[in-house]
Amino acid sequence: MKKWSKENVVDTLPVRKSDAHKGTYGTALIAAGSRFMPGAAVLSAIACMRSGVGKLEMGTEESVIPYVIQHLPETTFVPGFYERLNDLPFNHYTVLAAGPGREENDETEKVVQTFLSTDLPVVLDAGALRERTYQKRKSPVILTPHPGEFIRISSFDKEKVEQDRQAAAAEFAAQTGVTVVLKGKETITAFPDGETYMNTTGNSSLSKGGTGDTLTGMITGMLCCHDDWKHAILNAVYLHGACADHWIKTRSPHTMLASELSELLPEVWKKYE
Ligand code: APR
Ligand code: MG
Repeated sequence: MKKWSKENVVDTLPVRKSDAHKGTYGTALIAAGSRFMPGAAVLSAIACMRSGVGKLEMGTEESVIPYVIQHLPETTFVPGFYERLNDLPFNHYTVLAAGPGREENDETEKVVQTFLSTDLPVVLDAGALRERTYQKRKSPVILTPHPGEFIRISSFDKEKVEQDRQAAAAEFAAQTGVTVVLKGKETITAFPDGETYMNTTGNSSLSKGGTGDTLTGMITGMLCCHDDWKHAILNAVYLHGACADHWIKTRSPHTMLASELSELLPEVWKKYE
């Protein structure tokens, strides 16, 4: 199986153009958070804005907004997101993401179906993951399940997934036509064209609530600043793990918080560009 190496990262990370303005790197729209899981919205938002994007808009419940603003005043919000879903100005966005801090329910599914009906890249995680079929579309769909979520959305049995994660992810990607980032120790990224990579960074400090929400934000942001969407995903997974590897050089793996990944990212990213 192919591994996404340090050299690959160095070769493919984008240079920030000297004449860039905030429009150059696009606007991400993340649909995340709910009354009892506002923190997932915060984590994905911070990670996204740390990952190269120009602007971030959030689609969320009003109760979530103060939490996001407190931690990330750079964020703006779609007024009446759930009510206005069908007439959102999608030509205004670069990448769409949904799921962190969302329950898997009809409201979330309506967001997912609306996002999938556009021509934009779509990242789906957590509550936005469900067993469904995907129509052929112009831009990629990226799913980021942990093994439990993967079993739920693929209806593959547990033994099959545990025996050969790479083969299971590749089979799912080929079947559905979407990209799957099957998370865990040595995350597998399987593209629908059959290309599959194993990630080599990361450690058990990541086994803590919120690190997946952070990864969703990183993938979303990186999609906005990379020309090649595959490189964006592979680099996001790699740097997410590299931040955790940086943490354990001087600190116990028991102690890392998901939000600290985003704090380490600027320094870790710099080592590769
Ligand atoms: N080694 C390396 N990486 C690991 C390890 C490990 N031992 N354990 C976990 N990770 C990484 C995974 O690869 C992934 O990137 O940590 C991240 C964990 O992601 P999630 O399982 O999605 O965690 P979390 O952010 O808590 O999810 C939040 O989404 O998955 C749902 O039910 C979950 O509602 C919750 C929400
Ligand atoms: Mg998760």
